[in-house]
Formats: sequence, C-alpha cells, structure tokens
Amino acid sequence: MLPRSIYTLLALSLGASAWDQAPALPGKGAPISSADRIYTGDQSSNTITVIQPSTGAVLGTISLGDLRLGSNLNPQYVKAVGSHGLGFSPDGKLVVSLAVTSNTVTVLRTEDNSVVSQSSVDRNAHEAFFQHDNRHVWVGTRGVDRIDIVDGLLGGVVGYVESWGGPSKVVFSPDGKTAYANHIRSPSLSVIDVAQRRVVANITGLADVFSSDMMISPDGQRLWAAHKMVGKVSVIDLEARRVVGALDTGAETNHAQFAVVNGTMHGFVTVAATNETKMYAQPRASEMPVYLGAIAASGVEPHGLWPSADNTRLYVVNEHSDTVDFIDLTASPPKVVKTVNVGQEGQALIYVSGAVSAASNGTQNLGKQGLFNKPALNKLLTEASVPSSKYTSNGSPPPTGLVTVRPESGLDMLQVIGRNLRLNTTYTVSAKIANSLIPLVDFNATSPTGHGCGTAPQVLAFLKFIGVYDIDNLVMTSKGE
Ligand SMILES: *[C@@H]1O[C@H](CO)[C@@H](O)[C@H](O)[C@H]1NC(C)=O
Ligand SMILES: *[C@@H]1O[C@H](CO)[C@@H](O)[C@H](O)[C@H]1NC(C)=O
Ligand SMILES: *[C@@H]1O[C@H](CO)[C@@H](O)[C@H](O)[C@H]1NC(C)=O
Ligand SMILES: *[C@@H]1O[C@H](CO)[C@@H](O)[C@H](O)[C@H]1NC(C)=O
Ligand SMILES: *[C@@H]1O[C@H](CO)[C@@H](O)[C@H](O)[C@H]1NC(C)=O
Ligand SMILES: *[C@@H]1O[C@H](CO)[C@@H](O)[C@H](O)[C@H]1NC(C)=O
Repeated sequence: MLPRSIYTLLALSLGASAWDQAPALPGKGAPISSADRIYTGDQSSNTITVIQPSTGAVLGTISLGDLRLGSNLNPQYVKAVGSHGLGFSPDGKLVVSLAVTSNTVTVLRTEDNSVVSQSSVDRNAHEAFFQHDNRHVWVGTRGVDRIDIVDGLLGGVVGYVESWGGPSKVVFSPDGKTAYANHIRSPSLSVIDVAQRRVVANITGLADVFSSDMMISPDGQRLWAAHKMVGKVSVIDLEARRVVGALDTGAETNHAQFAVVNGTMHGFVTVAATNETKMYAQPRASEMPVYLGAIAASGVEPHGLWPSADNTRLYVVNEHSDTVDFIDLTASPPKVVKTVNVGQEGQALIYVSGAVSAASNGTQNLGKQGLFNKPALNKLLTEASVPSSKYTSNGSPPPTGLVTVRPESGLDMLQVIGRNLRLNTTYTVSAKIANSLIPLVDFNATSPTGHGCGTAPQVLAFLKFIGVYDIDNLVMTSKGE
C-alpha cells in the first residue's frame, strides 16, 4: 500500500479535492480506526471530552479552566470560560475550541492534547473552522459584524472579513476556496472568497434572522442552516446560490449534518425539545428533502452531531444528559447502539479521522474534570393548578419548564428551559416540602416566539440541591398578566 502522502499528492495532481475527513463522500473517508477521535465542547464543566470511537472509550477531558461558578467570577481569573464550539484542521492534527463567554480561541494538538496557541478575539466566539492550509482559523464572532481570522499556530488575530449581522459559524467548501457564514441578526448567508477574504455574494431569504448553526454537505452542493428560535432549517442550494425552502423541524432545532446512506445524501437534524434526530433524504440539492423519520435519543436535548468518515455511524451529544449516543446508520431504521457519559452540557461534537499516530494513543494531558459518570437529572414541569384547557382552547400548548440539575464546584447548577410561556408573567420553580413551597428561582419569558408566547432559554440558579431537594417534588407556578 502506498503511503497516505502519495495518495494526497496524486489527488492534488488530478485536481481532485483532498477532503477525506467526515462528513466525507463514499470511498473518500477511511473506516473507523483506533487513531480516530471524537471531541465534545462541554459548556458547564468547561472541558473538551475526548472519545475513542472504535472502542467507545471515554479517554478523559481537556480542561479549559474552572467548572461553572468556580473562581471564574473572581477578578483575578484569566482562564477560558464557556467551552462551546469545535472545529478541526483538514489534516486532523489540530482542533480548535471556542470559549463563548471569554472570547477565547484555543488550538490543541490532537496527538497529545496539548495547547498550541490561545488567542483573544471579538465578542462571542461561537464556532470556527480551519482553512485548508491547516493553519488559519476563521471564527464566527457573533457579537460583532465581522469574522476574525486567527493564526492557529502562532496565535493572534491576523485578519478580518466583514460579514454583517453577527456571524455565528464558518464552514468551507470541499475544495477550500469558498467559505460560508451564517448569522444571528440577519436572515442571510455570506459567500466568501477565501483567497481575497471578501464577501462575494449574499444568499438572502433564510427562514429566520437567527441561525446559530449550519452544515455544508461533503459534495459542497448544499448547506442546511438551523434556526433554533423558530424550529426550522433553511435548505440552500449552493450552486444556484438560492434558498430552496424551509423544513419545519421542531422546537429548539440545534445542528444539521450529512451522511451518504445507500448511495443517497441524507440530512440529519437534532431537535432538542423532542429528544430526537430527524432524518431526511435529499438526492438533489435543488429539491426539498424528504422526511424519513426520527431517531430517538437516549437522553435529553440532542445538540451537536457528526458522522464517521465512512458514513456508518452518527454521534450525537445529549446536552442535558451529559451523554453521547452512537447511532448505527447501517441499521434499518438507524438507531442508538451505545451511549457513553461525557462532560457537562455538551454543545458541539466533531469526528476527526487519523487524529493520533500509531506511536501514541493520544491520552496525554487528559484529566477527569466534568466526568461525574452519572447523567444530569431532568424533569419536565407543567404549570401547577392551571387547567391545560386554558391554553389548548386558544390553540397554544401549555407552559412547561425543563429543569436540569448537575453538580458543580461546591454548589449544584439548576437550569430551566421555559417553553410556551405567557409574556409579562413571572414563573417560579419551587421545591415542595410537606405543605410549603420553597422558591428556588424566578424567571420571565425573555424571547418572544411567533404565536404570542415566550421562551426563557437559559435560566440558571446555583444552590445546594442534590441531597437537599428531590427533583420529583419541584413545582412551577406563575403570577402576573
Ligand atoms: C452583502 O450584504 C451586506 C450587508 O447588507 C452588504 O454590505 C454587502 O455589500 C453585500 N455584499 C454583496 C457582495 O452583495
Ligand atoms: C424529553 O426528555 C424529557 C426528560 O426525560 C422528558 O420529560 C420529555 O417528555 C421528553 N420529550 C419528549 C417529546 O419525548
Ligand atoms: C438502506 O438500504 C437497506 C436495504 O435495502 C434498507 O434496509 C435500509 O432501510 C436503507 N437505509 C435507509 C436509511 O434508507
Ligand atoms: C494508552 O496508553 C496507556 C499507556 O501505555 C495505556 O495504559 C492505555 O490503556 C492506553 N489507552 C488506550 C485507549 O489504548
Ligand atoms: C407586555 O408588557 C409590555 C410593556 O408593558 C406591553 O407593551 C406589552 O403589550 C405586554 N404584552 C402582553 C402580551 O401583554
Ligand atoms: C420579571 O419581570 C418583572 C416585570 O418587569 C420584573 O420586575 C422582574 O424583576 C423580572 N424577573 C426576573 C427574574 O427577571
């Protein structure tokens, strides 16, 4: 067998794309091997979990700083806060991690999990990817109207691309010549010439102004932009540079991904509110996908997902269970075949082929931060003492609160996702002990949705909960209106 570098040279001399990382076209990506790694960005434990896909072993975590509400409110704290997005270099030798709260871009060597560079960038560094030179990282900094370009090897911001509306994520075409950016304040996709570092076209008319995540297919012909706030996905034909249509995927639609199954391009979308990954077939980029069915998650709020390079597996991180599901795409229908415990509140997930060499198994510099080896506690509350007919009569579903509890440093984090809330109403989650209610947290509907209801996506409280209260005795009440 020829060395891999010779294949790469042959491919380049033929003018073909050297892209063999996942998602990859059939025959391009290598089979799952012990040198591959999966990484998750764990927001609350502030870690990156490293998994060996061939065995399912959770090798450990890379710590970016303290657990949530450790010393990170201390004025002397200088480490990263909020491990969130992840990307990788095409050669599989580097990964990039985005700390969304401290605006930190950390580049790590996959071989030994060591830090190569750390850079401070513009506000809300969310998701990023390496340019095909395996060096420059293009960062969606969604607090501003430009993309920051970081030198991943030496560190530091070395350029900007104006991209109006809070660029959230950057992905590259398989040939590396074109970049695409979605936004959280504009229903448009920027088409960027990589060599010129300039927007050359805007694809407008996406289904919502807010698109946090998106993915390009391995043939480079289509891009699906997820709209979390309205539960839709814009399907974009990149050759025609037009929006083909919008899929109604469901509340809290998170990420999209692609895999070729049975010779046909399939799209996969994680829908957090219903704990499932929806599967679609899209043979032609110019036509709307066909819905095939949902793959039930083993846990709560599926978020990041990525296939193996050989298109046989799909890996999904369950944000509110602190687990990763392994889905067998060759099963009929595809289903979860394995679940492992990872760090807390997983956001992004990436699959890197050939991340480590045979000489090393890539376990250096890994620790155990965030690995509690028990899933977070979850409970879906409906509002106490309000007949649900009150809501269903006017067509809107009843208010609910998804409560998640996890241990942090010294205290526990209690998180609530409020859904279908009445605007201008204050809700309280309380613990019921005997006949009294002990209020734990108040919240209001902060994000309006289309039908006159509101959502409270990120309610947080820190208290001693585990061993003091019982999640099955929580109650949600409201006042106001
Ligand atoms: C893209 O849209 C931005 C914001 O409206 C505008 O400033 C820019 O000129 C547009 N670029 C192209 C190539 O149309
Ligand atoms: C999602 O998971 C939560 C927690 O287990 C559960 O209460 C809820 O009913 C699930 N949602 C759906 C639509 O199955
Ligand atoms: C792929 O083809 C096999 C054999 O016809 C079938 O059982 C399976 O359901 C197909 N998978 C998908 C995802 O369509
Ligand atoms: C990695 O290498 C160490 C030391 O040789 C060994 O203890 C460990 O089991 C190896 N891990 C894997 C996943 O192969
Ligand atoms: C909520 O309160 C604001 C400010 O008082 C008011 O403008 C708005 O109409 C209220 N909305 C609802 C749904 O009551
Ligand atoms: C909810 O809104 C009311 C009215 O504006 C305000 O007084 C209260 O502080 C808000 N509560 C929270 C938890 O933000």
